[in-house]
Amino acid sequence: MSENSTSDQAAASEQPTIIILYGGTGDLAKRLVLPAFWELYTRGLLPKRWKLVGNGRGDVSHLDFQARVHDSLAEFATTPDPEKWKGFAENILFAGGGFRHDNPGTLLDVIGEAEAELGEDRTIIHYLAIPPSTFEATTRAIKAHGLAPGSKAVYEKPFGTSLDSFHELDELVHSVFDEEQVYRIDHFLGKEATQNLHLVRFSNRLFGSTWNNEHIEQVQIDVPETLDIADRAGFYDETGAALDMLVTHLFQVAAQVAMEPPLSMGAGDLQAARESVISAFRPLDPSEVVLGQYRSYRGTEGIADGSDTDTFVAARMWVDTDRWQGVPFLMRTGKMLATSAQRVSLIFKDADGPVHSEGRNTNALIFDLKGNGAIEIQMTVKKPGPEPLPAESCSTLHLENVSAGSMTAYTSLIYDVFAGDRSLFTSSSGLDAAFHAFAPVLGDSRPEIQLYDDGSWGPAAANALTGDVGWLLGS
Ligand code: BG6
Repeated sequence: MSENSTSDQAAASEQPTIIILYGGTGDLAKRLVLPAFWELYTRGLLPKRWKLVGNGRGDVSHLDFQARVHDSLAEFATTPDPEKWKGFAENILFAGGGFRHDNPGTLLDVIGEAEAELGEDRTIIHYLAIPPSTFEATTRAIKAHGLAPGSKAVYEKPFGTSLDSFHELDELVHSVFDEEQVYRIDHFLGKEATQNLHLVRFSNRLFGSTWNNEHIEQVQIDVPETLDIADRAGFYDETGAALDMLVTHLFQVAAQVAMEPPLSMGAGDLQAARESVISAFRPLDPSEVVLGQYRSYRGTEGIADGSDTDTFVAARMWVDTDRWQGVPFLMRTGKMLATSAQRVSLIFKDADGPVHSEGRNTNALIFDLKGNGAIEIQMTVKKPGPEPLPAESCSTLHLENVSAGSMTAYTSLIYDVFAGDRSLFTSSSGLDAAFHAFAPVLGDSRPEIQLYDDGSWGPAAANALTGDVGWLLGS
């Protein structure tokens, strides 16, 4: 959320709105999107008059869909309070039969039903919670049935799988919507702690003044995960770690760290500052990228025997701006690793003075992106006792202590869609630059997949990328 969104939110609250949730019965809707709408509802943050229309291929009645939504909330959020649930459920409808340019199923009729209650002066939010391979067909259908003018469209990631496919999709989307109508979600940008990367930096001179290559030796963006991919083998085998996480979440977080100060914290300025630094990401050098696959991956149901999909990626990237010349940005993520964490670490150079600290974890500022987030400072202090000796010390600020009202990343971003605040969404030009930087690791120059043990830290080659520093986690 940016500083100019309060009045926009007030206006949005008065605007009758139909949300069309394509993929309404899918996994993403169940786990993340529907719980986010529920959270907005219970906090009183949805527009005063709204309807949510689930769309899918099946023939599901409104009542049946409402029951499914209830089950999803019970499983992935909380069992709804019966009174509150009643008010929520009566705004939920379902339109079956899919939605294609040559066959809209029942969607247009159900929109008519919603309009009968909300009036013609309604706005539409298209939420495409569907596999990326179907973005194109649904976008064409939205155009063909005249549902684009005045609406907003929310796209999940990855928005494209290569520079070429990104360009094709981008061109199509821009032939249907203006850029201002498009919201490409990258939920890492909605995390409270990710937003602190700019808030802390720009409001605390202590950190802001050291945010450059004079003081910082290395940036590490480390997102290991213990989970496997068993419950979404189909999506994952087509996508892989580099597309699922690197060119998307990790690049966006790198841009949050690397950006130049925006002119203001307004939506346009913040988005422009973050997205424009991506064009300074030097195209990845395949010799600085390690791809891996956990040993039991090919044994997973739904994964082809010889699949060479990457479940691990580590990369050393360079940002060609004056601020970051010479500072490597290390990024690492993978499934079935030794631990789960989401950490952005700014590792400082050794102090120039007479004291040199012992140990490794003595000079770093770490943003923990998980949950409500935390900020950790690792530093060198005096060891208590008669001798003036240095010792390692660490202090952690848990952000829930300062953010009682914090929302999940999805809730926060969907709230911004209603308010028309695009500061935390990716832009067309930013993604273009991201796919440019990522392109060298696709196709013929793609590094070979290295197998790693389930529950390990991934291929050993990833350690060498960090030079003498080592990964702060696990090495
Ligand atoms: C998703 C990826 O976008 O983010 C998943 O598709 C990953 O593979 C997930 O596990 C991590 O997100 P979260 O919600 O745990 O921060």
